[in-house]
Amino acid sequence: MKLIDGKAVAQKIHAETAKAVERLKSLGHPPGLAVVLVGEDPASQAYVRSKDRTCRELGMHSLKFELPATSSQAEVIALVHRLNADPAIHGILVQSPPPAHVDERAVIEAIDPRKDVDGFHPVNVAKLALGDPDGFVPCTPMGCQRLLIESGIETAGAHAVVLGRSMIVGKPMALLLMQKGLGGDATVTVAHSRTRDLAAVCRTADILIAAIGRPEFVKADFVKEGAVVIDVGINRVADASSPKGSKLVGDVDFNAVAPKCAAITPVPGGVGPMTIAMLMHNTVLACERLHNVKR
Ligand code: GUN
Repeated sequence: MKLIDGKAVAQKIHAETAKAVERLKSLGHPPGLAVVLVGEDPASQAYVRSKDRTCRELGMHSLKFELPATSSQAEVIALVHRLNADPAIHGILVQSPPPAHVDERAVIEAIDPRKDVDGFHPVNVAKLALGDPDGFVPCTPMGCQRLLIESGIETAGAHAVVLGRSMIVGKPMALLLMQKGLGGDATVTVAHSRTRDLAAVCRTADILIAAIGRPEFVKADFVKEGAVVIDVGINRVADASSPKGSKLVGDVDFNAVAPKCAAITPVPGGVGPMTIAMLMHNTVLACERLHNVKR
C-alpha cells in the first residue's frame, strides 16, 4: 500500500507558484486574492485563514473579509462588485456555504468569471463541460487529478467511481476524469447516497474518489483489492483520546480500507493541502490572463 503524500505534492506546486509570483511581481503585476467568509462557522473560518496565510507565504497580495452572519445578500454582492473592480485583486473566493438567507448562486454569479478562481461561475462550469481550457477548474477536483498524475496512477481506460455529486467536487471531478488527455480518459461512474447497491458499485472501481461528506462512510467492502482511493472528506468528529476532544477523519474508514489499496490518501495531509495549492495556482493564472502575461 502506497500512502499518497498530498502535503509533499502541494509543496512542489507551491514552489512553482512562488516562482510565477516573483515573475509577475517583476513585471509590475503582484497577484492578489480576496477571500470572503460570511458567518462564523469554525471549519470555514479555519479554511479562510489558511488560504489567506498561504497567499502571504507565497508573496501574494491577500485580502480577507469576515462578514457577520447577519450580512444581507445585497451587502455580500456589493463587496463582490467592489472586488471585481479592484485592479489589485485577480481572484475572488466566497467561502461556501453561506448562511441560509444568502443565495449562493446569486453571489457566485456576481463574481467576474475572469476572477472566479473557484471555478464555480456558470461560465466556468460550462467551459469545463465543453472542454474549453480558458476557464477555471474547481480547486479540489483539480487537486485530486493532479495527485493521481503526480503519483503515476494511470487513469486512461480505468474505471473511476466518483462517490458524491456536489457542484464543488463530484460533478467537476467526473468531468475531469472523462476528459481526453493526461489524468483523464477514464470510464466514469457517478454514485451517490441514492445509488442502489452502493458498496457493490464502488467495489467495481479501479479508482475511487470519496466525496460524499460523511465521516468514515467508505468501509472495506466498498473497495476492490488493489484499488486507488482518494479521500476528499474533511469531517471533524468527537475523539475522547485527543486533547482537543475531536479529530479530523475522511469519508473513508482509513484503517479498514488502507490494507486493500494499491494507494490511498490520508486525512489530513492528502487532498486538503492540494485544494489550497490549486487555489494559489488559479490565482496566478487569473493574474497572468488579466494582464496578458504568457507562460
Ligand atoms: N467550501 C468547501 N470547499 C470549498 C471551495 O473549494 N471553495 C469555496 N469557496 N468554498 C468551499
